[in-house]
Amino acid sequence: LSAATRGRGLHGSWASRWTFIMAATGSAVGLGNIWKFPYIAGENGGGAFVLVYLLCILLVGMPIMVAEVMLGRRGRQSPINAMRFLTEEAGLHGAWHAIGWLGVTAGLMILSYYAVIAGWALYYIGEMASGTFLGASAEQAGEIFGELLADPQELIFWQSIFMVLTIAVVIGGVTRGLGVAVRILMPMLFVLLLVLLGFSIQRGDFAQGFSFLFSFNAEALTWAGVLEALGHAFFTLSLGMGAIMAYGAYMPEHARIGRTVLAVGVLDTLVALMAGLAIFPIVFANPAIEPGAGPGLMFVSLPVAFGNMTGGLLFGSLFFVLVTVAAWSSAISLIEPAVAYLIETKRFNRLTANLLLGGIAWVVGLGSVLSFNVWEEKRLAGFNFFEFMDFLTSSVMLPLTGLFIALFVGWLMRPDTVRRELEDETHAVFSAWRWVVRYLSPFAVLVVFVLGVYKTFA
Ligand code: PFF
Ligand code: NA
Repeated sequence: LSAATRGRGLHGSWASRWTFIMAATGSAVGLGNIWKFPYIAGENGGGAFVLVYLLCILLVGMPIMVAEVMLGRRGRQSPINAMRFLTEEAGLHGAWHAIGWLGVTAGLMILSYYAVIAGWALYYIGEMASGTFLGASAEQAGEIFGELLADPQELIFWQSIFMVLTIAVVIGGVTRGLGVAVRILMPMLFVLLLVLLGFSIQRGDFAQGFSFLFSFNAEALTWAGVLEALGHAFFTLSLGMGAIMAYGAYMPEHARIGRTVLAVGVLDTLVALMAGLAIFPIVFANPAIEPGAGPGLMFVSLPVAFGNMTGGLLFGSLFFVLVTVAAWSSAISLIEPAVAYLIETKRFNRLTANLLLGGIAWVVGLGSVLSFNVWEEKRLAGFNFFEFMDFLTSSVMLPLTGLFIALFVGWLMRPDTVRRELEDETHAVFSAWRWVVRYLSPFAVLVVFVLGVYKTFA
């Protein structure tokens, strides 16, 4: 099969570069931006963490995203088979195609807890609409959230709904199933974040929220925090697990990868910063909410904002609809690489592949559900189950896959092949990118990974 037809016939392809941008943005913008970024920034003391995170996006994340899109487009198959093909093409033997495996496994592991958190957002749609949070204080909002966490049945119900929604779209296939909702709903999410931001400026402690996020407080930063920032840069851009590679496989031959990646990276960062700027002023205006409150941060602070704003009933439930949609368009990209692999190699059809993989992720997700209640005290390497899955994926698997991808593209692929895939970039841009991918990214990831893991357990 020629490069153009490999994989294409099986999975379809994007109509245009624009569709790819929408799909990649749909994958990138999700719970990572709105839920996770604010709470880990809060846990790590803000300012310096945010700066490190932004540097990781710029110097490691976006260059590796270029590499992943390129590998996907050249490989034209699911990440596992694409890596197998590219390894052979580069005249190599050995375990390089394990990159694909590592990524695909990480994707399913992330999906397992992602569905649980997205379930919280689903639950909040109804709570918002029914006025549960009308006029609520921070204490009351905290209690309502606590009651949800204490109820495994409720959590499992919403986790299941979200998982069904996810596989329903992926069963529909890449071209029809994905991308359609994203085009309408992502701009709406952006607008609603602006509304929230307006509320925070008027009614929150905006000055303190702003300075928490942007003033450089080096003393709050640890190596474990730097590793978390790096891991989150991968997580938020959907890197290191084949999602972007799989989407790259459906990309038209002549599309400028560099600009496309820039667009996705900028949008993703904007959404994260807007979410942070919307959430922290509310946190600081309410002493009952700690910046380091953890995973519940947005589920306590934002309901307080909506509950005390005109039109909050409507805006509040709409906001959680949009968070759900953002999570949804990310979740489909978590499962698609594995689905594509089962279809290509094991002759599964889309339906059974989705049922099998969705089922596995659902079962593993039960561990995260229980870690918020029944298994709260159970520890794995010092983490509860949810924290363990999060650490293992974001802080270990994604950075390692990213490292291997940088090494593969920078050192093992033939330079002329790489250049040809990126022929639309100027010489200066290409050289700068190649230098970063050969030296800077691997070095940074290695140092941060080793020190971060050491300090996390030391
Ligand atoms: N980028 C998504 C987010 O920020 O919520 C999460 C994610 C999606 C991570 C897809 C990895 C992935 F492959
Ligand atoms: Na993101």
